[in-house]
Amino acid sequence: MGRSKREILSSIEELVREYYSQVHGDGLGGTGEIRGGGKDAEIPYAGRVFGHEELNAAVRSSLDFWLTLGEQGEGFEREIASYLGVRFSRLVNSGSSANFLAVGALTSSSLPEGLRLVGGGEIITCAAGFPTTAAPILQHGGTVVFVDVDPVTCNVRLESLQEAYREGKTRGVILAHGMGNPFDIGGVLDFCRERGLVLIEDNCDALGSRYCLGGGGEGDGEMRLTGSWGDLSTQSFYPAHHITMGEGGLVSVRQDVRLMRIVESLRDWGRDCWCATGVSGTCGKRFGWSFDGLPDGYDHKYVYSHLGYNMKPTDWQAAIGRVQLSRLPEFIQARRSNWEYLRSGLDELQEVFEFGLPTHAVERIGDGEYRWDSSGSRSEPSWFGFMLLVRPNSGLDRVELARYLTERGIGNRMFFGGNLMRQPAFSDFAKEHPDRVRVVGDLQGADRLMRDGIFIGVYPGLRRSDLDLMIDTITRYVRGIGGRK
Ligand SMILES: Cc1ncc(COP(=O)(O)O)c(C=O)c1O
Repeated sequence: MGRSKREILSSIEELVREYYSQVHGDGLGGTGEIRGGGKDAEIPYAGRVFGHEELNAAVRSSLDFWLTLGEQGEGFEREIASYLGVRFSRLVNSGSSANFLAVGALTSSSLPEGLRLVGGGEIITCAAGFPTTAAPILQHGGTVVFVDVDPVTCNVRLESLQEAYREGKTRGVILAHGMGNPFDIGGVLDFCRERGLVLIEDNCDALGSRYCLGGGGEGDGEMRLTGSWGDLSTQSFYPAHHITMGEGGLVSVRQDVRLMRIVESLRDWGRDCWCATGVSGTCGKRFGWSFDGLPDGYDHKYVYSHLGYNMKPTDWQAAIGRVQLSRLPEFIQARRSNWEYLRSGLDELQEVFEFGLPTHAVERIGDGEYRWDSSGSRSEPSWFGFMLLVRPNSGLDRVELARYLTERGIGNRMFFGGNLMRQPAFSDFAKEHPDRVRVVGDLQGADRLMRDGIFIGVYPGLRRSDLDLMIDTITRYVRGIGGRK
């Protein structure tokens, strides 16, 4: 008698553990200890962090050979929706696709006219950030309205939202939580609710960040995860982000079944039917529908209510994502403590750098301790990176610092696209279609962030010795100004 399936699987899993330990375990023994890594720096700014459990999940899923989104995908969607505290989550193949579908959902003809994004409709977003937060507005025929950011928080300036609003034109707002620091959710929600606007949270850089509303209303004072406040929210699972499945993303819908059905339809070829891949007749009347213009009883699987795409990831990716999700609490903790460690270690350099604060904090009074503004609202970032904003007149050259760090193996990045209006893609578009791009104010904050901002890593793969080296290298660079070697 040959070995049972269980026995074979158990041997494979043992081998995978051994392989992980030798190849990826970084000398840590493959006991679930984790260490990530990028390729362009000895101390990367971000990277995948994984144990043998992820490798084994990938191997088991490969052996199942279901391939397309299936049981693992459904499990992951259920688990992450419950984690975030939203009603629905749908996996897609990237954070960019997630933003694309979240904005695209607003164009659906199944939405009431007042809500729908149609030609001439405007969506407000920040001028500084990642390009695929803003691009979907243009890709879906809308007008993008760029507002400025506060370069210290990397988040929207509330006053500029009011300035950007145009009655009858503005349909919604899409904002990222810059560097993982929640934007002023209380202020943005008030702005959207008073005007009946849809809020899309781009939570790609902020999984695990929390926010609570002051004010004393129902539910106020309760810490809730970012990604659970907007009508829709998005995630990226690219390796630089808080958890990874290689390529991957997620659209979450807080409450509205209608929005969830639209997102799912757009993701799944535009179809009207909502059966999972390989399943038929979930609605109980596959051949019992009637649609205007279609023969009666036409197979619901082939009825298309949207001009859709196929933006699904594979089940294999979802299997990895589920294990990563189970590690998220330790990842968040590591990101926070790494940020605080860097902040304390670089404290003496405040004359040269402006350091960020969690939203609503007015002063840092100790390791992880803050004095808060009078709003009663609080935030607890699950940081994406540690931003060093060079003070004007400090005599320090940001590009030179980037080179210095890079030469010494310390990974660093600028704030993504910076002021997007300076990027050829957006400035060329604005030249060709001046009526489709509106800029509010002078975007000085976005320009400042683009000119003076540089960030380093806080990801969970960093060791204390890495953080010490980062602090030491930056301090030596700054102290060496004037007589730098
Ligand atoms: C704020 C933000 N939104 C969207 C994305 C796009 O995510 P993806 O790389 O998965 O397409 C990124 C990528 O880093 C991002 O930082």
